[in-house]
Amino acid sequence: MSSTKFPRLVVLTGAGISAESGLRTFRGNDGMWEHENIDDVCTPEGYYRDKKRVKDFYNFLRKGLKEHEPNAAHFALAELEERLGDDFLLVTQNVDNLHERAGSKRVLHMHGDLMRLTCEKNPKHEFVFDGEETLDTRCPFCGGMSRPDIVFFGEQPLYMEEIQDALRHCKEFVYIGTSSVVYPAAGFKSFAKSFGAKVTCLNLEVPTSDPYTDVFVEGKATDIVPKWCKEFK
Ligand code: OAD
Repeated sequence: MSSTKFPRLVVLTGAGISAESGLRTFRGNDGMWEHENIDDVCTPEGYYRDKKRVKDFYNFLRKGLKEHEPNAAHFALAELEERLGDDFLLVTQNVDNLHERAGSKRVLHMHGDLMRLTCEKNPKHEFVFDGEETLDTRCPFCGGMSRPDIVFFGEQPLYMEEIQDALRHCKEFVYIGTSSVVYPAAGFKSFAKSFGAKVTCLNLEVPTSDPYTDVFVEGKATDIVPKWCKEFK
């Protein structure tokens, strides 16, 4: 974000962008939260009740990522970033690494990142990790116990200051493949709109109306995202 200071375009992605890569969304039919109990695997209480269970769950997801490839929607966003440079910022709620593997660089993982761990004692001690986390895995900076770099429900999402600054100044905000029910991400469209941005929604199914969204594009991410990116001026 150096030359122009703030990006012209802010993109928010959710689980829907990775669905055609074979990753489960959270709330759809057969979604993750139909199979797993949120309280057990995605809350601080669940974590401190049974750390091994939670670490094993994210170990399983991390390992599974290797069987999935980025799709045309991830690649289209990476190409758009190439074209726009610092005028582009990607904020993702996803903890997978498919955006990075498609070539995206300006990515903020506001809900954390499966490919990183952090430290129980000092959450700023983040480190890249591509293995099996155990109860013995330690923070390389201070020796504290590691934990998955996942923002549990009830915890503060990451990079909020940077994201809000970008939303305040962008000309366009587009949200892709998200059900827009989890805050604060669900509030980004009204926030950006209140500062004058055009707001666009790209999703498999779109609501009939929404006071904050100017343009709705309905369809599969792999169809609509490449087309939208190509047409973005
Ligand atoms: P959801 O599962 O809530 O929503 C996925 C959205 O993607 C839905 O609106 C679907 O209609 C849409 N969708 C599904 N397949 C699609 C496709 N092929 N193309 C385009 N859109 C498609 O996922 P999120 O909104 O990302 O948080 O969920 C937000 C947060 O809730 C997640 O980050 C996670 C979860 O609990 C944490 O784990 C902290």
